[in-house]
Amino acid sequence: MDTQPRPERPPIFTSFTPTPELDTVAYDRMAREVRSLLGIDLSQYKPAQVWRRVNGFASARGLPDADTLVKKAREDAGLRQAFLDMLTINVSEFFRNPEAWEAMTSQYLKPLLLGRLPIRIWSAGCSLGYEPFTIAMLCREIAPQTPVHILATDLDETILARARKALYAENQMAGVSPARRAHFFRKVDAGWEANSELQSMITWRRHDLLRDPYEKPFEIICCRNVVIYFTEAAKTDLYSRFCESLRPNGILFLGATESIPNPRSVGLTPAGLTFYQRR
Ligand SMILES: C[S@@+](CC[C@H](N)C(=O)[O-])C[C@H]1O[C@@H](n2cnc3c(N)ncnc32)[C@H](O)[C@@H]1O
Repeated sequence: MDTQPRPERPPIFTSFTPTPELDTVAYDRMAREVRSLLGIDLSQYKPAQVWRRVNGFASARGLPDADTLVKKAREDAGLRQAFLDMLTINVSEFFRNPEAWEAMTSQYLKPLLLGRLPIRIWSAGCSLGYEPFTIAMLCREIAPQTPVHILATDLDETILARARKALYAENQMAGVSPARRAHFFRKVDAGWEANSELQSMITWRRHDLLRDPYEKPFEIICCRNVVIYFTEAAKTDLYSRFCESLRPNGILFLGATESIPNPRSVGLTPAGLTFYQRR
């Protein structure tokens, strides 16, 4: 059963790894290959950062350059998946940045859920499912009966297939307290399985934030630690589309290090920490 966490990736950079210059011809060649091999459109990613990461990844695997990496990834499914993981960066955890979840709970989830209306929340870039399950646990703690629908989407179908299993190894459960484990999970041989009620709150779907249409409406959209390497233009477009997918007064929840430089230009106002509200 595929419940084991993937082995830690080797460090992408060491003090001995020189930062490679961006070679635009080689970059474009790699971007074309990545599109056909992995289905990722790099045209909306920051080239210098992607180039640095790709070369660091190649060098950590003893490969001389991006061309060789792409060639090997064509033949080797394991390397291909690792390459995809590196480009999409699927690192995540339950209750990531707990103080932000506490603020989300007291400022937004409680008032919404105690209103007892069905609510819809989108976890965009959900990785292995830690984020949608975090939301599901919080919602059930606040209001056990209020209907909550969580849409959990990610670009990476392999990651989604694992998320759908709702199974987490012991070392993936670090953020979940013993009380929450007892209440929301079942101990199984491979680790911990989220209970059927939590699972029933979540709809999993493959979705590319850069290419696919956005559903609506949502009371809350979480898009945390997903767009770090997107170009500024791609981010602005994405925030504007998120705004259109939110109900009036709905909340966009970003990662701890993320912010929107000019939120009013996309129809949002800052609402504390990394929250933005649709005006
Ligand atoms: C670092 S994880 C973030 C997981 C979670 N939101 C969190 O904050 O812990 C980034 C996720 O975004 C996904 N992702 C990257 N590019 C994407 C895109 N264009 N559309 C949808 N998901 C994307 C990756 O596959 C990865 O699972």
